[in-house]
Amino acid sequence: MEYRDPEFSDRFRRHEDELKWLYYELYHSDEKAYAGFTEMLYRCREERPESLRAADRERETHPDWYKDRRLTGMQMYAGAFAGTLPGVRGKLDYIAESGVNCLHLMPLLESPKDRSDGGYAVSDFRKVQPELGTMEDLRELAEDCRARGIALCLDFVMNHTSEDHEWARRARAGEKEYQDRYFFYDGWEIPNAYEQTVPQVFPATAPGNFTWCPEAGKTVMTTFHPYQWDLNYMNPAVFTDMTDNMLNLCNHGADTIRLDAVPYIWKALGTSCRNLPQVHTLVRMMRIACEIVCPGTLLLGEVVMEPDKVVPYFGTVQKPECHLLYNVTTMATLWHTVATKDARLLAHQMRQVFSLPREYTFVNYLRCHDDIGWGLDFGFLRQFAQEEVPHKKFLNDYLTGKWKDSPARGELYNDDPRLGDARLCGTTASLCGVEKALETGDREAMNRALRLDGMLHAFIFTLSGIPVLYSGDEIARLNDPSYHDDPLRREDSRYLHRGAMDWEKAEKRRKKTTPEGRMFAAVRQLEEIRRKHRVFDPKADVWVLDTGNEHVLGIGRYYCGEQLLALFNFLDQPQKVRPGDEKAYTDLISGKEGDAGTVRLEAGGFRWLLHQF
Ligand code: GLC
Repeated sequence: MEYRDPEFSDRFRRHEDELKWLYYELYHSDEKAYAGFTEMLYRCREERPESLRAADRERETHPDWYKDRRLTGMQMYAGAFAGTLPGVRGKLDYIAESGVNCLHLMPLLESPKDRSDGGYAVSDFRKVQPELGTMEDLRELAEDCRARGIALCLDFVMNHTSEDHEWARRARAGEKEYQDRYFFYDGWEIPNAYEQTVPQVFPATAPGNFTWCPEAGKTVMTTFHPYQWDLNYMNPAVFTDMTDNMLNLCNHGADTIRLDAVPYIWKALGTSCRNLPQVHTLVRMMRIACEIVCPGTLLLGEVVMEPDKVVPYFGTVQKPECHLLYNVTTMATLWHTVATKDARLLAHQMRQVFSLPREYTFVNYLRCHDDIGWGLDFGFLRQFAQEEVPHKKFLNDYLTGKWKDSPARGELYNDDPRLGDARLCGTTASLCGVEKALETGDREAMNRALRLDGMLHAFIFTLSGIPVLYSGDEIARLNDPSYHDDPLRREDSRYLHRGAMDWEKAEKRRKKTTPEGRMFAAVRQLEEIRRKHRVFDPKADVWVLDTGNEHVLGIGRYYCGEQLLALFNFLDQPQKVRPGDEKAYTDLISGKEGDAGTVRLEAGGFRWLLHQF
């Protein structure tokens, strides 16, 4: 097929064989549907503004732009951060001052207020939530970001729509065409059969995977909340229209698309309905759609699964899927290490991450808008007699502050006593003890808490990939318990760490003695050092150092004549370790010179030691 637009034609031709092959395989050689899909791609390309096309060309010349060690991300709710999208525009100076050049704005499309799951139940993919602004505001914000060199990431909630979405309303009214966009069943027989093999996402707050829809007199699949109706990607119209919706976000200036809950998008009876092979076909086709319409746009897969399920979402070198994935097991393992003060599991986890191809780029993070799920390598922990259920209970007890000597202030999430499977909420600072130290006015405790918080940040800045801050963590933001009084939110403890940005508190970042100022300066310093030194380049060799001390994790990096020894002490006591390296090292944080024969670490402290060959 020839298109008038030579750029489009070129890109299309490059991918046509594979795209058609994948599409025909999935959609039973439906020629008409395929033609509709490719027409949609062409239309999206036509709609793409010239300024973004120019950016595409630029990125095509260096497609690895996102592997730059100078990138720092920040994830935030636009509303909580600055009220509205124009509000965020007005705060870009702050974002830039934080050293952030990748901004992830959480869901901002229209979503019913009382049934929104934090914006993850979209009722109109073409309309910004009115309180936040308009599509035009989004475009303008994206333009401002682009002008400042800030890449913008937007969520694409693709597994389901809100029950208020037009398709859902028409389905409810009985239109078969729209019922076919979801999973509707006449009774409970098939739903019950699914329940035999499909786990539950929210066992306590939204049990079950199906909901009775009285208007339609049918049962509808709702893996997440009853108001989030799962889309049926077996229907090619769903795939075309949803890809169209995704590309529309790209055409409004999104540089990265976060594929929300992507492992769930294909369902089959008798399976877990997670990570099915067809999911990978769909993601690969979405990648191709972006390569054709808006090359340079990144896909960030939200795959909150165990490592062997996560990595396949990178695809292969010849047939890549996502550019970026969350380093979720590392995140959970890190919090396990905070609670146990035993770094052996973390070292084991890091060995696995370091053995992956360097091309794989992870988002490294401490906290996000979701809970911390305890997806740990329990097989490994069993050798220390740590069994899954009691160990999860210990972690939850420690991080909710029930455990003696624990300074943490988390709350449980979806506590399912049947499975002993509760997850955990709270901000980084509150989990590290800043909140408690403020309350008790204990200066020593505050020092310890901030040191631990700083060390955890240093850890994510040590790894290859993009470190992403959770908004507010840069000023040691505390938990926000006010959700307890909000009838729309009180069932969902994730709101504990989704509070509004406190701009008065943010002002205190300028004062070096405040917790805000200390944290802000610490994060800025990590960013600066990482930018300056090539040893943080993703091409570096990275390995786990044997520190001979189970409380202290060691990571080594080498690149272009620079060697870094990074040491992290998880114990609340000072430690000495002997890497036994007599070369001359500079402590990158204090600037002091020394060797790495014996290294002293403060309680919950870290060292970044650099040797230049
Ligand atoms: C993702 C989001 C989470 C949401 C879920 C359902 O996992 O991160 O916040 O509840 O999808 O859309």
